[in-house]
Amino acid sequence: MPGRPSASRRTVLRGAAVVPVAGLGVAACSSGADGGAVPPTPTAPVELGAESEVPKGGAKLYRDHNVVVSHAEDGSLKAYSTICTHAGCPINKLAGTTLTCPCHGSEFDARTGKVLHAPATEPLHELSVEARDGKIVAGPPA
Ligand code: FES
Repeated sequence: MPGRPSASRRTVLRGAAVVPVAGLGVAACSSGADGGAVPPTPTAPVELGAESEVPKGGAKLYRDHNVVVSHAEDGSLKAYSTICTHAGCPINKLAGTTLTCPCHGSEFDARTGKVLHAPATEPLHELSVEARDGKIVAGPPA
């Protein structure tokens, strides 16, 4: 069952150190105040790729930018930051439309940002997104 209590805060650092991509994980998990080199999410509009790369009814994870974009059946786009709202790890796995955080296993719906599985309780942060000349452009919240 989910809902590990506050002890999980410690597990964040220990867990991240064990992961092969520890440098990335630790930097992102502890960044913010100390100004990590990589911004957690786009601070200015960024072109991600062709709109056609995101299947209708599906989603695509842009790990380099920590953004997930989903494409609804009606053609509308949604984008969310993939910095986990639990303790700030970058989410690196997308299966279908389910995002899974490597640190403690929180899951999110890439179409809505909502939490599907604890320990996270807050939804992912929504970003602005649009298609310009067939290219997806995402940026900070409007
Ligand atoms: S940082 Fe803990 S589940 Fe993502």
